[in-house]
Amino acid sequence: MTSVIELLRSHRSIRSFKDEKISEELLMGILSAGQAAATSSLIQASSIIRVTDPKLREELCEVGGGQAYIKDAPEFLVFCADLNRASRCCEMYDETPIRGLTEHFIIATVDVALVAQNIVIASESSGLGICYIGALRNNPAKVCEILRLPENVYPVFGLCIGFPAQNPEIKPRLPLEVLVKENFYDAMSEDDLIKKYDNELNRYYESRSLNNKVSVWSEQMSDKLSKESRAHMKEFLNKRGFLLR
Ligand SMILES: Cc1cc2nc3c(=O)[nH]c(=O)nc-3n(C[C@H](O)[C@H](O)[C@H](O)COP(=O)(O)O)c2cc1C
Repeated sequence: MTSVIELLRSHRSIRSFKDEKISEELLMGILSAGQAAATSSLIQASSIIRVTDPKLREELCEVGGGQAYIKDAPEFLVFCADLNRASRCCEMYDETPIRGLTEHFIIATVDVALVAQNIVIASESSGLGICYIGALRNNPAKVCEILRLPENVYPVFGLCIGFPAQNPEIKPRLPLEVLVKENFYDAMSEDDLIKKYDNELNRYYESRSLNNKVSVWSEQMSDKLSKESRAHMKEFLNKRGFLLR
């Protein structure tokens, strides 16, 4: 196994950080690793807002349901899917950009996620820890206001980065056979593996050093997928110029 594979397999989210700055040199190296990610048709439909102003951090922390690491992490980045830049290119050539194509939404969302995950790997390979923050989508319109995002740009998630002040155990994932299927999709074959995973994850939750609890994965999923979740997203994305057609 290569050292990169070992690093990837040792990922766990970090939610408590040392009060230690990340040097500009290291941070710029990490950000440039993000920039190197593959990007659909070279559109590079991403923007990152590095939030250094403590007041703005406080406001974002509030949007994120008060998760303290949003304001306490040495660095907090907001990853935005960005079609504004490419649309402005149309204007340079007297073309009218087609607005709101779902395909463009997918391109921009995938692009920015790839940039983010490169930044995550670069960070973890430098001894830093990270935590993604999807909770910014609790109130994405407020995030746009706080960060002055133009139209055709939307905040997909945030990312806390810093030196870890905790050492949580690695959270087990579904068996590889559930993730990777050969030739065709056979959902029935997953049932026993899911039960096995429920037991394994429950053992992890019961025995982990922080916040141990009893929790069954399939029940969590049942609960999650049978309830409304951020139902405002469709209207929000429409207003930003996404998902119109
Ligand atoms: C897009 C995305 C959004 C997430 N949002 C949050 C969040 O708002 N708060 C949080 O504490 N963790 C968040 N997480 C972290 C997940 O809870 C975590 O990755 C998952 O439970 C697996 O645990 P691990 O990363 O430690 O392996 C998010 C992860 C992703 C990929």
